[in-house]
Parts: sequence; structure tokens; C-alpha cells
Amino acid sequence: MSISELFPDPPASTVPSITIKRPDDWHIHLRDGDVLKAVIPFTTSQFARGIIMPNLVPPVTTVESAQAYRERILKARPEGSDFTPLMTCYLTEATTADEIERGFKEGVWAAAKLYPAGATTNSHAGVRDIQVLAPVFERMEKIGMPVLIHGEVTDWSVDIFDREAVFMEQKLLPLLKRHLGLKVVVEHVTTAETVEIVRAHAGRVAGTITPHHLILNRSSLFNGGLQPHFYCLPVAKHERHRLALRQAATSGDGNFFIGTDSAPHLRSAKQAECCAAGIFCGATALQTYVQVFDEEGALPHFEAFASLNGPRFYGLPVNTGTLTLERRPDRQMAAIEVAGEDIVMFRGGEQLPWSLGETRP
Ligand code: DOR
Ligand code: ZN
Repeated sequence: MSISELFPDPPASTVPSITIKRPDDWHIHLRDGDVLKAVIPFTTSQFARGIIMPNLVPPVTTVESAQAYRERILKARPEGSDFTPLMTCYLTEATTADEIERGFKEGVWAAAKLYPAGATTNSHAGVRDIQVLAPVFERMEKIGMPVLIHGEVTDWSVDIFDREAVFMEQKLLPLLKRHLGLKVVVEHVTTAETVEIVRAHAGRVAGTITPHHLILNRSSLFNGGLQPHFYCLPVAKHERHRLALRQAATSGDGNFFIGTDSAPHLRSAKQAECCAAGIFCGATALQTYVQVFDEEGALPHFEAFASLNGPRFYGLPVNTGTLTLERRPDRQMAAIEVAGEDIVMFRGGEQLPWSLGETRP
């Protein structure tokens, strides 16, 4: 009997573990204070670096406030963690090209975040008229600094399920034409059409995909009653879009990478008369992504999506260490405690087929 008959390659679906270069989260809300302390250990156990969202109250709009926030994040890391926060500038209509360039050149900003005013949580200080920022975008083109875009229009006459598509047609495509050298990340892609727009601008436009948009569709929001913990923005779309996202993420296409958009809110803010938008997926993000790649028969493409495509787009080195994920079922806790309250975890309480294994620095 030959060696290969004695030890045949296991079929893909029974591969017991996968070891990849340490991954990064290119879109994460860590918040501040008690919530920061409660959620950061989950992110640091999964990711080596994170692009930190600036939508605090007040938002992180200056180089100094970003430096101070970075210090608070570094201090809140669990002992021994080498997690690197990459800070972003919250763009307002008052942001100047000089402030942007100063923060980028000083190594404080990794990117700038564009929130259309009123599009989502803590976005009221965002931008009403994108064209006002033309000088800022020109400078960003010159210095090679990416803009990260929450791509939804805020007009209430536009159906909420169409807001991403309308933004892409009315705002993003003209912006890309006006600023041919601008590097853009379309954040939390939720539609098949946005996938195609990213692909059509390969190289200068990339897309992040969240774990929850790979699992949920719009019916999930109403399944068995209204599900506040599945509500986020952009809202999950029709099943055909979820399938397109799974295809985009797992296809090996280098223009897509991880951005969890983990957005913790206290249970009282979710199970409320008016539910806050955001899903806390930080504790189960990699277990969810790797499960999706496994289900799609695409584990060989997982490392690129998790660990290689993002650094290439940002012009940063790939992490040197490794992380192992194991095909070992593990029951998740349902929620995490924060200052006498709790935050419900995405897929909390479920038995997930994949678990985190060893991290080697
Ligand atoms: O659902 C969301 N929650 N979408 C966002 O864009 C922001 C986030 C938050 O900060 O809670
Ligand atoms: Zn976000």
C-alpha cells in the first residue's frame, strides 16, 4: 500500500485546522470607556491590527484627539497584546486638507472616514455635500491616503433597501470620476451591484465585507418577530445580495477583505423603543468568516481575504505571525457584561463549528 493510500488527503470539508498569517480587521468600532475595555480583548485575540472607526461622541476629527484615543486603546489592551490600532479621521465639512496631510504624514491617520450626515450611528457631524470636500480629496490623492466610505444616501424618500445602490450611482461613481487617483474603500458592501462596482475599479477601490452580511438577509430581521440584534446599517438585503457577497468574499478576488464593522451597543439601546443600529460581531467574526469559506469550499482563499488583501491595498506589510483556526465545535457565550449591563453577541449562545486556535507572534 502506498503512503498516499495510508494517509489520503482529507476532503476539504473535514480539514481539521487552517493556519494563516495573522489577520487584520479593516473596520472596527471599539468605542471608549467601559465598553472599550469590555470589547477589546475579543478583537485583540482575533486580529493583529484594526482600522478604528472615529464615530465617538464627540467624533475624532483632529490629529490630537486621534492620538489621545489611540493611547486609550493601547492602554485598554489585555496584558501582552501587541494589537496595533490604525486611526481614522472623521470627515466633516470643516475638515481641512492641511490637517489631513499633517496627521497622515505624522503617522497618526491611516485613512479618513466619510459618513454622509445622518446615515448611521453618530454620523450627524458628517458630510451633507461631498463636493465641499474636493480640496481634501485632492490632497488625499496626492499623498495616497485612502477614504473609507459609508455608502448610503440619507434621503428618506429613498427606500432604505435602495440607499446603498442610489449612493453608488449618484455619489460614488461621480466622485471616482472627479478624483481619478483617490483610493477608496467601500465599507460593508451589501449589494451585488456594489460588488460589481468594486470589481470594475480594481486596484484603486476595495470593499470590506462583514461577517453578519454573509449570514443574514433582510428576512432574518423579521424571522419569528422583529430581531433588534440583527439590525445594522447598511441593513441586510435580499438573499440574492447575500449570495453575491459570499461569492465575492470567497472567490479569491483581491479587492475584498475583512471589515467586521463590529458595533457594540448595550442591550438597553438595542431592545428599545428605537433600536440602535449595530451588531457586536467582534467575538465571533473569524469563526463566522472561516465557516463561510468552508461552506463555500473556498478555504484555500481564506488567507488572502483575511490577511493579505487588506495590507496590499493599504500599502502595509503583511503580519509576520500566524493564527490557527480549528474545525472544533465551541459554544459561544450569549452576551458580555459591561458596567452592570450587557451587550448581546452576534451568534452568541450558538455552537459554532469553528474555533480560534493558537496565535504565534
Ligand atoms: O450598524 C451600524 N452601526 N452601522 C454603522 O455604520 C455604524 C455602527 C455604529 O457605530 O453603531
Ligand atoms: Zn461601521
